[in-house]
Amino acid sequence: MLNVVVCVSGGGTNLQAIIDAIADKTITNTRIKAVVSNNYGVYALERAKKAGIEGIVLCPKDFEKRSDFEAAFLDKMKALQPDLIVLAGFLVNIPGEMVEAFPNRIINIHPSLIPSFCGVGYYGLKVHEGVLSRGVRVTGATVHFVDAGTDTGPIIFQKAVEVKPTDTAKDLQLRVMEEAEWVILPKAIDAIANGRIAVVDGKVQISE
Ligand code: GAR
Repeated sequence: MLNVVVCVSGGGTNLQAIIDAIADKTITNTRIKAVVSNNYGVYALERAKKAGIEGIVLCPKDFEKRSDFEAAFLDKMKALQPDLIVLAGFLVNIPGEMVEAFPNRIINIHPSLIPSFCGVGYYGLKVHEGVLSRGVRVTGATVHFVDAGTDTGPIIFQKAVEVKPTDTAKDLQLRVMEEAEWVILPKAIDAIANGRIAVVDGKVQISE
């Protein structure tokens, strides 16, 4: 059984997709041990509560220094002993110590086709605004392992989504979630839980 901790910052639709996929057995061999948020009062915590999952808040504002928050966050993660940490709309930079403590055991969903529209400054709606202002015809989402860089780790799955001429950034955000994020994030967790993912020479190998 893969014990997963899901980290969230906001609405938690990706968290919901994971909860639903476990319930309908799209994801097998997996349980969510806890949901950790860096913000109080976000709807993702409500979703966790409704599903009977422990919700934990670790808010940077409660700490004097950023490094104190990061140390507390790492301690909490170590105490939870997850097999996998899933960043599901977790808009916090992951410190190097955390990556070192959980090598190839942290995955992230990003709302573009990496290496486009990713890296520092590209998160949430800003990604889709970038896509629209560049005028690309195809965007999508990527689920990848987290390494020491920003959105640079080994790619597990990607899914393309069409950009329509009339799209606003919010339209695009929703279509990318529905068509790509909520599909490939559960798919990646299931593949990891069932031993189908290996990282070899910095690249992901998937076995059937
Ligand atoms: C999602 O679109 C996710 O891909 C994005 O934040 C949103 C969270 O939505 N993450 C990033 O931009 C990470 N760089 P949710 O809270 O409804 O799952």
